[in-house]
Amino acid sequence: MEVTMKIIYGADYNPEQWPEEVWQEDMKHMKLMKVNMVNINIFGWAILEKEEGVYDFSMLDKLMDLLAENNIGADLATATASQPAWLSQKYEDVLPVDEHMNKVWYGSRQTYCPNSVHYFKRAKALVTVIANRYKDHPALKMWHINNEYSDHTTICYCNRCAIEFRKWLAGKYTIEEINDRWGTHFWSQKYYHYSEIIPPRHTSADPNPGLVLDYKRFMCDSFLKLYKMEYDILKRVTPHIEMTTNFMGNDNKPLDYYKWSKNIDVVSWDSYPDPMDPESPMKNALTHDLMRSYKKKHHILMEQAPNQVNWREVNPNRNSGETILYSLQSIAHGARGVMFFQWRQSLKGAEKFHSAMIPHNGVKTRTYEEVKALGELLGTLEPSSVKAEIGLYFDYDNWWALEYEPGPSSKMKYMDLIRAYYRYFYNENIPVDFVFKQDDLTDYKTVVVPNMYMLHDDEPFREYVASGGQLIVGPFSGIVDESDGVFENGYMSTLSDVFGIEVFGYNALSKPLGSNLKYHTWIDEIKPTTARIVLKDDKDILVTVGDYRKGTAIYIATFFEDMAKVLSELIPIKGIESPKGVEIRKTDKYTFILNHTDQSHTIKVDEKTYELTPYGYKIIE
Ligand code: GAL
Repeated sequence: MEVTMKIIYGADYNPEQWPEEVWQEDMKHMKLMKVNMVNINIFGWAILEKEEGVYDFSMLDKLMDLLAENNIGADLATATASQPAWLSQKYEDVLPVDEHMNKVWYGSRQTYCPNSVHYFKRAKALVTVIANRYKDHPALKMWHINNEYSDHTTICYCNRCAIEFRKWLAGKYTIEEINDRWGTHFWSQKYYHYSEIIPPRHTSADPNPGLVLDYKRFMCDSFLKLYKMEYDILKRVTPHIEMTTNFMGNDNKPLDYYKWSKNIDVVSWDSYPDPMDPESPMKNALTHDLMRSYKKKHHILMEQAPNQVNWREVNPNRNSGETILYSLQSIAHGARGVMFFQWRQSLKGAEKFHSAMIPHNGVKTRTYEEVKALGELLGTLEPSSVKAEIGLYFDYDNWWALEYEPGPSSKMKYMDLIRAYYRYFYNENIPVDFVFKQDDLTDYKTVVVPNMYMLHDDEPFREYVASGGQLIVGPFSGIVDESDGVFENGYMSTLSDVFGIEVFGYNALSKPLGSNLKYHTWIDEIKPTTARIVLKDDKDILVTVGDYRKGTAIYIATFFEDMAKVLSELIPIKGIESPKGVEIRKTDKYTFILNHTDQSHTIKVDEKTYELTPYGYKIIE
């Protein structure tokens, strides 16, 4: 089967919730809407395996055949996201345990311990059968491994996890190293044997930060082990088929997606911008840039709601035009697929009030009209690429460590710090790639590090500046090593000479300071050694510029209410002017003008004038 469309378009398709006559209707509408791929079998396990090792593929066979007949590709899921009730009941170790050591029960979804031996065994068997059964099926276009790993069950504290955690630790550190790294002489926490170490369960005071950090790393690796088990089976059987697993947007913190992306063929993610948040377009653009940047390759928008969701406190409808706008935003930021959750709106179950491409009230709805128009529009476009000269540094270890509480200020939230900078580039329409520790930074004129509380042993910054880059770093940086222990020789220790400053203290601000230029949240106490002071207030040094070999290292010791004013003076790269809320993005094939506001705008781009309606767009070839 040939899928002819260049941009993937479709949805999660859960036809098992309807009789087969409805499937025929579905095919008709999918073709009308130009749908070319659907995600199926995501929650299919209970139907496929009715008791241990007894499989029934009759329904999935029919569905795969139907899709092939209709020239619609299947992003075939491995169905391991939610195990059947019998499996949870039969084996003690399947269900996860919370921090109070209470079992978390089945009856919803995605409730399993990532280290359960029986979950692993049954999932492995299922994936093997599915891979072999459908490996040559003409509908198979992509594998969809599990679904949103770690959603709902982010962390498990059970005894099996404790055993696996000890093994994980033993593979990295001796018991002496653990004591040293975690600083266990503090509060009488010293361990003499691995067997004494337990997960950071509920305890009466603050748990050890080193333990908490390593447990986060271990949980991330535990889910990754599950994922890799599936990936390896599928790659062995179908080396030519692309594989993905859908990442979560919404500032998802538990999994180091950069690490994960090394084992993924195509990154995909689920986007649910909050309609009540005026900054949603910026936040959504940020996550697209992040997702594209993991592999510096086209990604897929795997899920979005065609209209309202059902899981916030109040779930207003999207404005007319917004679904098309957000879909185009994804293409403008490098996506090669636009998908929805879900195809047909459920009549039963917890998500019956979540929108779908075919709503409860069918084809006469605005939602139907919009997604149909979107299908036609996407059929005229091709995936395109974004070129960025700015690299925005992102690091999961840093995120995890920074947000350990108690700390100096609970306002130092990693994503807020990232956004404090990203917002400027977004508003100025300056393209940004996210960059990571192992990336080659040489192609970026400027690398911005909103925060590097944790300085890795193999930090790339000295070399980047030495070879001519412009590095900009935000406050509370260079404080701890990879185990969250404060550097012995002072803050910024090993990079002090690069920046030409010493940081000898800080102050967490309870209210903004500053006369002309207000600054807030945090201020470092800086003493320049070789750097120049370029911005200061009565008593605080705010920004310094240091020259190091061929490059420049800038330190911004605080956050400004008007970050744009400061950044525009420091960064030589200029963007494209647009009214607030109108996003302009140039790719190698198109210029996208996206009006995220409820106002009309007249706008000039490359000497031409364009009229934009509220939530309207223009695509210039
Ligand atoms: C996602 C999930 C989907 C559906 C959707 C609703 O997180 O992967 O299965 O539940 O949310 O918004």
